[in-house]
Amino acid sequence: MTDNKRKILKIVIAIVVVVAILALVRLWQTIDTSRSDVADDTVTLSQYKTDDLDAIKRGEYVMRVGDCSACHTAGNGYMGGGYDIKTPFGDLYSSNITPDPETGIGNMTERDFYNAVRQGMGSHGFLYPAMPYTAYVKMSDQDMHDLWAYFSTVKPVKHDIDETKDMPFPFNVRLSLAGWNMLFFDNSGLEQDANQSAEWNRGKYLVDGGGHCSACHSPRNLLGGEVTSGYMQGGNLGEWYAPDLTSNPHKGIGDMSEQQIKDYLKTGSDGIGVATGAMAEAIEHSTQYFTDEDLGAIATYLKSIPASQGGEPHPQLKVSDKVALSYEVNCSACHGLEGEGIKGMVPAFAKNNVINADDPTNLIHAMLKGARAAHTHTAQTAAGMPSFAWKMNDQEIADVLNYVRNSWGNTALEVTADQVAEMRDSLGARQKLTVPAK
Ligand code: HEC
Ligand code: HEC
Ligand code: HEC
Repeated sequence: MTDNKRKILKIVIAIVVVVAILALVRLWQTIDTSRSDVADDTVTLSQYKTDDLDAIKRGEYVMRVGDCSACHTAGNGYMGGGYDIKTPFGDLYSSNITPDPETGIGNMTERDFYNAVRQGMGSHGFLYPAMPYTAYVKMSDQDMHDLWAYFSTVKPVKHDIDETKDMPFPFNVRLSLAGWNMLFFDNSGLEQDANQSAEWNRGKYLVDGGGHCSACHSPRNLLGGEVTSGYMQGGNLGEWYAPDLTSNPHKGIGDMSEQQIKDYLKTGSDGIGVATGAMAEAIEHSTQYFTDEDLGAIATYLKSIPASQGGEPHPQLKVSDKVALSYEVNCSACHGLEGEGIKGMVPAFAKNNVINADDPTNLIHAMLKGARAAHTHTAQTAAGMPSFAWKMNDQEIADVLNYVRNSWGNTALEVTADQVAEMRDSLGARQKLTVPAK
């Protein structure tokens, strides 16, 4: 070997060693569970008893904020698990998290529970990030302890779940999630920002922690990691699109007042839009229970997120009179001749950012499958939107959506028949009824 070659070999070995050390440090950071050491590691959930009723009550509120039951209750008893989450890597089922020792988490100690919820380390190894531990990692020790106290009061349900039975190899290998964590998991609690008010800090804690808003509202990369540079700039969930929540006035919530944000999260409507799909569920099971102070804190924090780029109005699309007539016949009874909707019940189309979003997923979804607004304590009659799948073909649905997206001051990107066809297929919606020729 020449001296030169030897030199190059030495440099290569040095680089490999440095990279390996950095990777080990990173691995160590992501699997470090020392934060859980504050919790007891002797008494299991099925044995744990407490008469601290305040802690149990606070824990129920933490459960509401985290919306645990949305994913862990699915026809197998409260928190009995079995909810089917479709990931790009196969179907994943949520765990039974009742105190049953055999099929639930009854054998977990409080420390095990912290490790699962905040660190993504469950009873069978690393958890898939469909369980939002990447957000819950921000939750405080106090909230975790209260949550534990609450779960000790949940009725044990015997229901065996094999979380990964429908996940093909190699995606069912939990060890691969160590690599995922190295790439995407920020294993640290939330620091208070001393330059911001207590209200703002509380808002950020709720949004980034228990509320896991960015799990839906931030874009994800191909491996399912949240794109941090696109924080809260909108995320496509496949069947739904969670819009931009930055202060962008066109596609974000820049022109929503703090009061409107609070109303939306409490009642399901801000007076213009009415929450549909995944957000209607989040409101129904979670945010409607938030205290007014917490809703105010969330509004304060959301309004402080810097505006995303872009979103300027698109040139207006021309739509034919025939489509205007179709709107009048099929939609105007509910959505109004001027797209004004019915306040708090039927969404207005005029000046509704969700309707104008570049991503038309929610609109096509609502047209094909219908939709139901959130049922909340303040809005008892959850109004329904009928499905038009049987009545309109792909082009007709695209046309009427382009009409509402380009009337009454709206200007938005064209919705194509192909987009509707694709969604009709993926949602398994029916085809337009055809009348046999006489
Ligand atoms: C968006 C859906 C979703 C939400 C919300 C959610 N979970 Fe989960 N959770 C899951 C899924 C899916 C799994 C199974 C993951 C796996 O096996 O890799 C899981 C697993 C768990 C486990 C691990 C069980 C075990 O035996 O290892 C615990 C504990 C848990 N969740 C508690 C909670 C709590 C407490 C909350 C609320 C603060 C919550 N989850 C909210 C989807 C969710
Ligand atoms: C399970 C996914 C999901 C989660 C979690 C979620 N959202 Fe949403 N959100 C959506 C979807 C989907 C929409 C669009 C609803 C529609 O089309 O009517 C939406 C809409 C909204 C809107 C209305 C935006 C507008 O321009 O009108 C606000 C405000 C909002 N979400 C706030 C939140 C906050 C705050 C949280 C956390 C506490 C949160 N969301 C958590 C899916 C989600
Ligand atoms: C019977 C009353 C009714 C009729 C008729 C109706 N809608 Fe709706 N529509 C609703 C209600 C109520 C909602 C809100 C549902 C929800 O919040 O889940 C809604 C929601 C929607 C949404 C989803 C908005 C969002 O926030 O994502 C779109 C898009 C929509 N309608 C378009 C139409 C079009 C186009 C027509 C005519 C072809 C039509 N609707 C006819 C009542 C109606």
